[in-house]
Amino acid sequence: MSDDSKSYDGPERVFSGMQPSGDLHLGNYLGALINWVRLQDEHECVYCIVDMHAITVPQDPKKLASQTREIASAWLAAGIDPERAMVYAQSSVPAHAQLAWIFNCVARMGWVERMTQFKDKAGKDSERASVGLFTYPVLQAADILAFKGTHVPVGEDQKQHLELSRDIAEKFNRDFDAPGFFPQPEPLIQGPGARIMSLKDGTKKMSKSDPSDLSRINLIDDADTIAKKIKKAKSDSDALPSETEGLEGRPEAANLVGIYAVLAGQTTAQVLSEFGGDGFGRFKPALAELAVEKLSPITSAMRDYMADPAQVDRILEQGAARARDISEPILAEVRRIVGFWGS
Ligand code: TYM
Repeated sequence: MSDDSKSYDGPERVFSGMQPSGDLHLGNYLGALINWVRLQDEHECVYCIVDMHAITVPQDPKKLASQTREIASAWLAAGIDPERAMVYAQSSVPAHAQLAWIFNCVARMGWVERMTQFKDKAGKDSERASVGLFTYPVLQAADILAFKGTHVPVGEDQKQHLELSRDIAEKFNRDFDAPGFFPQPEPLIQGPGARIMSLKDGTKKMSKSDPSDLSRINLIDDADTIAKKIKKAKSDSDALPSETEGLEGRPEAANLVGIYAVLAGQTTAQVLSEFGGDGFGRFKPALAELAVEKLSPITSAMRDYMADPAQVDRILEQGAARARDISEPILAEVRRIVGFWGS
């Protein structure tokens, strides 16, 4: 056994993913996608539509491929440039599944049992959940490490999964006496966008599984729907404070101010210096206007991509070919390190 004293010294690479289950919402956009767009200027970026993760809960086979195209369309519309970043579907690159199996044999039951997302998603009847849902975070570690991903831009809800990825990378390096082989992927969880809350309950995360569509803004919503959802968003009867501390104990106010800040590219303090003292009667219309201004161009570009599935398919094929070129040599090395026959 080695002490893994040699640390990873390979190239930096950004990796992240999203599930093709349901519409993308403002949380996905402000928590992750907006950062992905920025990162492609500075790094090699790999962005994966995780259809294998999606089937850990039932999906309609007639819709999965078109949902995958829809996610790709949203990414492209938001500014992901497929000439620079790789955009592809997870199931079209075998390295994900191959490495996931090996990592299933590296990760410990106790580590995976601690994952709160499994407990939330499986609910009370966890005996009936799929085995895939249980090992979901192990596949996530394989996603990142099949590319030796060093930086992972995600929302705050993914923090625990990222910690598991780091533990798996470290244990693999140690168990197989391969110091520094896998990097310790670093989560990039940034600003108030990292945790966008439901518009109906500021203590609950904005989520595609919330039964109320009024709880979230979908990237595909038209301008009137966005304005209506913001108008109906839960708030309180006090004026906005002038200082950030004044938002404590006011989850709905904090959420709406946070959304404004990320959309405007400002800090919370800057937003409050403009709106402090105003009630929601003035703030909500300003937020609705800003949201429509920022999201409408994305929505309309997304509709254009969705109307041209052949173009989106070409982009996904090209992305998959590039992703295979990077991940196959890494998997060949993994097979050799593990000691598989023929490696
Ligand atoms: P998914 O599809 O559930 O979420 C995609 C991204 O959106 C972020 N997000 C949010 N951010 C802020 N506020 C919210 N309310 C909100 N809701 C969602 C998520 O944090 C995520 O960044 N397990 C991942 C998919 C995945 C992955 C990976 C990510 C699979 N393999 C490898 C990174 C690296 C997920 O839950 O996606």
